[in-house]
Amino acid sequence: MGTGRRDIDGVSILEFRAGSAPEPLDVPDKGYKMLKTDYVFHATEEARELERLQMLERIFDPGTQRRMLATGLTTGWHCLEVGAGAGSIVRWLEQRVGPSGKVVAVDTNPRFLRGSGSSTIEILQGDICDMELPPAAFDLVHARYVMIHIADYQTAFERMLRCVKPGGWVVIEEPDFQAARAVAGPDEARAAFGRVSEAIERMFTSLGMDHALGAKLPVLFRRHHLDQVTVEHEGHLSAGGDLIPQMMRLSAEQLQAKYVATGLVTESDMEQYGRLADDPDFWAIYYATVAVIGWWQPQCGGRTQG
Ligand SMILES: C[S@@+](CC[C@H](N)C(=O)[O-])C[C@H]1O[C@@H](n2cnc3c(N)ncnc32)[C@H](O)[C@@H]1O
Repeated sequence: MGTGRRDIDGVSILEFRAGSAPEPLDVPDKGYKMLKTDYVFHATEEARELERLQMLERIFDPGTQRRMLATGLTTGWHCLEVGAGAGSIVRWLEQRVGPSGKVVAVDTNPRFLRGSGSSTIEILQGDICDMELPPAAFDLVHARYVMIHIADYQTAFERMLRCVKPGGWVVIEEPDFQAARAVAGPDEARAAFGRVSEAIERMFTSLGMDHALGAKLPVLFRRHHLDQVTVEHEGHLSAGGDLIPQMMRLSAEQLQAKYVATGLVTESDMEQYGRLADDPDFWAIYYATVAVIGWWQPQCGGRTQG
């Protein structure tokens, strides 16, 4: 499993991938290798991607933190953050668990992850689907907007479940792009928004990914016999000028070629979609987030096999 350890800014980064060594891609030398991945944003320009991820954190961290605190998160807990992105939740968890706790961050491309220099945070580079993580080791396992990017999301979920201690918690938050719809604005603008939403669906399905994955999470939790399951479904109804349209515009700019390649949108649709992000009279649900919390106790159900 482990293929090498290196130190960046005082943080130990372990690169690993079960079975085979990571395949390096042609990226500027940042002190780590990028694993081959289907993640749609993997080849995006670094500064733009960081801006997008930080905007996402600004919008969604308060809800994520509330959900994590609802599990009883406290000093000394061991937490696993999967697909840690720009790392704000990792840093927040470090404060919550304190020096007696542990925060392990996993990402196929930990380009934006930096620790505080303390030994509380460990950053692992790898694909959640084929990493050998310690079994039954974490009080809390969390992923946000990660499984949507994984075709074999069931394996990803099972890998995460294996890491949860008996009596530990799983918190997963994923988008449901099927919830997208234009609500108010000129017909033509609403039609362009609808075409971009269809292109988003087509891009995900052409990669074998499920654009409506968020809505399937409760079924997944039940199938794996998690207990005390709570489900929140949050449709993000927003007007131009709000943060979500701005964030979606950043995504669309980075993925424009992929959307246009579906044949469902033109460049002019994409330009219009970008302008709508600033139009206070245009209202839409860009997508919904489904957040599910579950408690893992082996005697309450059958543990995932494999
Ligand atoms: C949309 S970002 C979300 C980042 C962060 N969870 C957040 O919500 O702010 C998805 C992150 O998951 C990582 N990722 C994608 N596929 C992954 C996989 N198979 N295993 C581990 N990380 C993955 C990406 O590199 C990226 O950092």
